[in-house]
Amino acid sequence: MKAVVYDRYGPPDVLRIEEVERPVPEDDQVLVRIHATTVNRTDCGFRRADPFFCRAFTGLRRPRRRILGMELAGEVEAVGSAVTEFEVGDQVFGVKGAGAHAEFACIRESAGLAHKPTAMTFEEAAAVCDGASIAMACIARADLREGRTILIYGASGSIGTAAVQLAKSFGAHVTAVCDTKHVELVASLGADEVVDYLEEDFTKNGKTYDVIFDAVGKHSFRRCRRSLRPGGTYYETDLGFMWHVPLLALLTRMVGEKKVTLPTPKYSKQDVLFLKELIDAGKYRAVIDRSYPLEQVVEATRYVETGQKTGNVVLVVSGG
Ligand SMILES: NC(=O)c1ccc[n+]([C@@H]2O[C@H](COP(=O)([O-])OP(=O)(O)OC[C@H]3O[C@@H](n4cnc5c(N)ncnc54)[C@H](OP(=O)(O)O)[C@@H]3O)[C@@H](O)[C@H]2O)c1
Repeated sequence: MKAVVYDRYGPPDVLRIEEVERPVPEDDQVLVRIHATTVNRTDCGFRRADPFFCRAFTGLRRPRRRILGMELAGEVEAVGSAVTEFEVGDQVFGVKGAGAHAEFACIRESAGLAHKPTAMTFEEAAAVCDGASIAMACIARADLREGRTILIYGASGSIGTAAVQLAKSFGAHVTAVCDTKHVELVASLGADEVVDYLEEDFTKNGKTYDVIFDAVGKHSFRRCRRSLRPGGTYYETDLGFMWHVPLLALLTRMVGEKKVTLPTPKYSKQDVLFLKELIDAGKYRAVIDRSYPLEQVVEATRYVETGQKTGNVVLVVSGG
């Protein structure tokens, strides 16, 4: 099968298309013929080995797994003998650790895989799970419900667009922060208020929130602290300069009434099924910026690494 492979850590140019062996599903696995996948910031982090410690999981000197790609949407091509939930021909979507930048990938039945929402195209379904799983790691812990308020900074990215919709689905009052060109999009995702950061600094307008979620790793607890209500929590997606965020998370657990948290996503089947429910109910959609053919993975990756994409970047797998 055709796949995007890489044999050393480095810039997007280390990626290339190669013919590799098609994977064979184990007893509890499903083989998916992939129609669409995405390039996301986690793929980029693994490829660059940034942060350095991720080599502990991906291979110290060179990548252990040659194929990147976490999100996928496609059709079931074959199933292992113990699989009961899926059948050959089922349309599915989901998220896995790696291996989706290819025409086929195996994924455990118990992993983050579900039947594709019928109203979605493969391209849309491929772009659902990564940003939403990371956003869920925050939203599910933040006790969001009617009467609670959340401010989402970086609301136009993959995690941000997911966070706005998920926070609304939990009933919270959502204030989203983005630049002028994204105001309309973010409002269309259900935000109750949208702050254009080119026009207004939310940390200086006197308003306070139960939760502040920096979905793009560009703000700081220090600057946001006064915008948090007593007992409020600041959620961060990035380790921050000199990895200060985990340290702050530890410190604020012991001292002070305002907390910092760095949530880690679970990429669970439970989350994927929850997202499917929201999609079927018309409460969630994937925001797609651009689609590229799989063969243009290097261009797609360069674009993702500008840090300026809106929502998600999809790779269309034509042979898939
Ligand atoms: N915790 C984890 O497991 C994990 C995993 C993957 C990624 N991450 C981190 O999560 C963060 C977000 O990832 P993502 O994929 O959602 O990002 P993304 O899609 O690349 O975010 C792009 C968006 O960020 C906005 N943006 C760029 N600079 C900004 C700034 N200074 N202030 C406010 N908004 C800004 C841009 O919109 P505007 O034009 O509106 O500014 C753009 O639409 C990244 O820092 C990434 O490293 C964490």
